[in-house]
Amino acid sequence: MKKYFPVYVRIPVIFFAFFGAIEYFIDSGDRPAFIKYPVITLILLLFIFLQIAIELIWKATNTILDTLLTEEQRKQKEIDENLSFTETDFYKNLMQRLTKSEPIENESQLLLAHDYDGIKELDNNLPPWWVYLFYGCIVFAAIYLVRFEIMGGDDQETELRKEMAQAKIDVAEYMKTAPDMTDEKTVTLLTKPEELAEGKTIFTTNCIACHRADAGGNIGPNLTDDHWILGGGIKNLFHTITNGGRDGKGMIAWSKNGLKPKEIQKVASYVLSLQGSNPKDGKVAEGEVWVDPSIATKAITKVDSLQVKK
Ligand code: HEC
Repeated sequence: MKKYFPVYVRIPVIFFAFFGAIEYFIDSGDRPAFIKYPVITLILLLFIFLQIAIELIWKATNTILDTLLTEEQRKQKEIDENLSFTETDFYKNLMQRLTKSEPIENESQLLLAHDYDGIKELDNNLPPWWVYLFYGCIVFAAIYLVRFEIMGGDDQETELRKEMAQAKIDVAEYMKTAPDMTDEKTVTLLTKPEELAEGKTIFTTNCIACHRADAGGNIGPNLTDDHWILGGGIKNLFHTITNGGRDGKGMIAWSKNGLKPKEIQKVASYVLSLQGSNPKDGKVAEGEVWVDPSIATKAITKVDSLQVKK
């Protein structure tokens, strides 16, 4: 028989199976195991070398042994090598053991006496592959019954619920240290009371010296009117607080002074919640009335469509 799995199939298959198993079973966090543990890479390389070495030694010994064969043996070997897999003794024995089939010559002994309208029946052995599969099922059923019905193992739904609960804990854990992804483009206005309360605390700690506790304005402008020097709306405010105001005016870039994006989002939302609060002795409005461009364009499109209708 020709070698069933040539070396260029065998080595990659074994290699990737081994590799996959390592990646699956070794918990290496977010990096592949073979990078985190160089020893594993070393073992993998060693493994490949070993395979190649075995292959070479095998080839070499075979060539040497071949020279010792007589002409007849060599011919026989050639015939053996050219047999297809199903013609080999190995395959035939295996099939015999799995099926226990009787050769066709013995058929007369197996024939049952009964004749069903001309259809006759053979009394063959039950094939062992089938019998053992059946026994296996019985064993499985027994274990299954004890595990899930008697000892009360988790069914799929309970398993799912437990995993979801664990996942929630994991997410909360992750969020504690996760990088802050809020930025100018994605920032949204917060409206929950507890978030605004946090925004207020940040405002009181950092901003009141220049904007006053009621945001009526002091060194910095009044933040409660609808006039903005640097643009209104959550995105502009986020930008201004993150990067600071115009040069030399005194409004610093808070991203460089201890506020995280999430905190800037909160304080900006808090500031916007003060719109129209009209504090006593507030500074006169500076800048221009700011209209949300998305709302403005919507209004224009509406007018346009009305005109089209006419
Ligand atoms: C050192 C004084 C000072 C502090 C502290 C300060 N600001 Fe300002 N802020 C200013 C000045 C001055 C301006 C005007 C900037 C300009 O004209 O470019 C301003 C502008 C602003 C604007 C834009 C107003 C507009 O009309 O466009 C916002 C919003 C703002 N500040 C929020 C904050 C927040 C929130 C804090 C606290 C985290 C803060 N500021 C802390 C001085 C300050």
